Amino acid sequence: MDLTQVVSSILETNPRQAAMLARAQETLREDERSEVEAYLALEADFGFTPKDLSSAYNLVVLDTLREQMFFRRNGRYRHQRFSDVASSVYFSPDYMRQYMQGLALTGFLWPNHVSIRRYFSDFLESVVPGQADYLEVGPGHGIYMASAVRCGKYARYLGVDISPTSLELTRRMLTHATGAGEEPARFQLQLGNFLETSFDRTFDLIVMGEVLEHVEDPASFLRHAREAVSPSGAIFISTCINSPATDHIYLFRHESEVEELATRSGLSVQSRLVVPYHGTDLSQSYAEMLPINIAMVLSR
Ligand SMILES: C[S@@+](CC[C@H](N)C(=O)[O-])C[C@H]1O[C@@H](n2cnc3c(N)ncnc32)[C@H](O)[C@@H]1O
Repeated sequence: MDLTQVVSSILETNPRQAAMLARAQETLREDERSEVEAYLALEADFGFTPKDLSSAYNLVVLDTLREQMFFRRNGRYRHQRFSDVASSVYFSPDYMRQYMQGLALTGFLWPNHVSIRRYFSDFLESVVPGQADYLEVGPGHGIYMASAVRCGKYARYLGVDISPTSLELTRRMLTHATGAGEEPARFQLQLGNFLETSFDRTFDLIVMGEVLEHVEDPASFLRHAREAVSPSGAIFISTCINSPATDHIYLFRHESEVEELATRSGLSVQSRLVVPYHGTDLSQSYAEMLPINIAMVLSR
């Protein structure tokens, strides 16, 4: 299975995305193309076909459109409580698998997700080798955590996710990323709510990609991360503004809210990336309440 086959299959049901998907493929860097092709080869090894992957992607597109319509009409996300979405999303193995497979693809096909993923890669690139501990909260599909393991700058990697399906997807991704014969103790995966997880060590990097909008109280998440990061460590977060999805329950309306939350949690912003909605600038995105993506590197 390769990306061209998956995109052709997506376009059979979703022809309106033709221009965007053509552009996405043209602008993929060589290393990214290898990464996405390796990911698709892994899915094929597990018996998934281009049609399965395109259905997963189209599920994310349709769910997002449905929630965007709700957001436009009501000015809020449909759900505000974790319990509203827990059983239909995180603890629903089929739905969660498809959701994460679709989301993994958007990281290579949607310009906003490509920008955030590249920002993360550039950050990893800038890390000095020889670090001790890496923690990822909510690795989901496992693409980010796999690239961190591949970069090899940390001695130990730990992933914590509340969804058994996410953990399983991450496990196979990491096993694949590290290759046969890799010492399994180098990475560990733990099932649980990050807020209820205590650690016997601090971390040089904590990554929380697209998690804060999925929790009821993101301030507690950032405070818990602050306690778990080493004094010279960093916390990488990405989240979104005015960006409805099936399981987004915390609505950020402005980038300043994310920054205030970080500051109130005792963290300072080292760098940030703000990505307006595709084809608009930031002021237009805000004026029309269109989704904006944001990533930040935070420290104590
Ligand atoms: C949208 S996915 C993000 C996947 C990936 N990190 C990314 O950036 O694309 C959110 C992940 O966070 C996990 N999650 C949500 N609430 C959590 C919590 N309280 N503790 C740990 N993981 C959580 C979900 O199960 C899911 O795997």
